[in-house]
Amino acid sequence: MQQTQLQTTQLGTTGLVITRVGFGAWAIGGGGWEFGWGPQDDDQSIAAIHHALERGVNWIDTAAAYGFGRSEGVVGRALAGLAQRPYVFTKASLLEGPGHRVVHSLEREDILREAEASLARLGLDAIDLYQLHWPIPGPDIEEGWSALAELKEQGLVRHIGVSNFDADQLRRIQSIAPVETLQPQYSLVEREAEEELLPFAEREGIGVIVYSPMGSGILTGRMTRQRIQDLPADDWRRHDPRFREPRLGRSLALVERLRTVADRHGTTPGAVAVAWTLRDPAVDGAIVGFRRPDQVDPILAAAGLELGDAEIAHIEDET
Ligand SMILES: NC(=O)c1ccc[n+]([C@@H]2O[C@H](COP(=O)([O-])OP(=O)(O)OC[C@H]3O[C@@H](n4cnc5c(N)ncnc54)[C@H](OP(=O)(O)O)[C@@H]3O)[C@@H](O)[C@H]2O)c1
Repeated sequence: MQQTQLQTTQLGTTGLVITRVGFGAWAIGGGGWEFGWGPQDDDQSIAAIHHALERGVNWIDTAAAYGFGRSEGVVGRALAGLAQRPYVFTKASLLEGPGHRVVHSLEREDILREAEASLARLGLDAIDLYQLHWPIPGPDIEEGWSALAELKEQGLVRHIGVSNFDADQLRRIQSIAPVETLQPQYSLVEREAEEELLPFAEREGIGVIVYSPMGSGILTGRMTRQRIQDLPADDWRRHDPRFREPRLGRSLALVERLRTVADRHGTTPGAVAVAWTLRDPAVDGAIVGFRRPDQVDPILAAAGLELGDAEIAHIEDET
C-alpha cells in the first residue's frame, strides 16, 4: 500500500519526530482483567498495528498493565522482523494483583524488574519512551521517578515521562531529572487538563501526548445506547460514568455536532474529536486506540485536519 504522509511534530525536547496520531495499545490487551476490553483476537490486533504503520503512524503507546503483558507481547510480535520499526512507548507502576486487579507500586525494585520484563516482551534493547503510569502511591513519586532516571542513565530507556500527574507532582519530580513528556487524559468529554496542566507543560517545554481523545470510543459516532448495553461483561466501559446517564445523553448530542463538522470535511466524528485535541498548542500527539485494521483509516484524517474557529465554537456549544 502507498505510504500516506501524516503530519508530524517534535515531541517536546526529546528530539523524536512523531506523527500527530499514534497507535494506542490498551484495548489490544483484551479482556479478563480489571480494565479489560472484552474478547480481542491477537491476529486482528497485529493486523491493526501493521495497517497503521503502513499508513505512516510512527509510534505505539502501550503499558505493561494492558492485559498484564498481553498488549506488550502482541506489540513485540507485530514488530518482530520489521525492516523499520516505529517508536515504542510503554509504562510502569501497575502490577498484577489478586483477581487480575491492578496494584500500584513506584518502588525502585519493582520498576527495574518491570522494565526488564517489558524489554523482553517487546523484543527491544531499549524503550524509546518509558513513563510512570500513575502517581500512586503519592508519597513514592520521587522514588519511581529516580528509578526511571536510573534506567535512562543505563541506556535501557531513551526518554522518560509521566502519565496522570498533576502540575504540583510534576514540580516535585523535576529537580530529580527533567520530565520529557506528559500523558494526560484529554478530550471533549474530559477537559480538566486545560486548566493548569497543558499550559504548564507548554511553558516548561514538556512534550504532550494525550490519551482517550475519543473518550474511549464514546465520540466515534459508532457508539449507541444499544451497543453499550451489549458490551461484554469484562469491558470496563460498562461501569464508566462517561457511558451512563446523565453524561451519555450529552455525549451523544456532542457526537451529532461533531458529525455536522465531519460531513463538511468528508470525514468521521471520531477524526474531528481527535483533531479537536490537536488544536491545543500544548498537544503534540493524540494516542488513539485501535483494535481492528478497519478502524484506522476513518480516524487518521485527524492528523491533518484544521478546524476553523466557528467549527470549534459549534462543537463546544452545549446550548
Ligand atoms: N496513561 C493512561 O492512564 C491511559 C489511559 C487510557 C488510555 N491510554 C492510552 O491512550 C490510548 C487511547 O485511549 P482509549 O483507547 O481509552 O480511547 P480512544 O482512543 O478515545 O478510543 C479507542 C476506542 O474507540 C473505538 N474505535 C477506534 N476507532 C474506531 C472507529 N474508526 N470507529 C468506531 N470505533 C472506533 C475502539 O473501541 P470499540 O471498537 O470497542 O468501541 C477503540 O478501542 C490507549 O490505547 C492507551 O495507549 C492511557
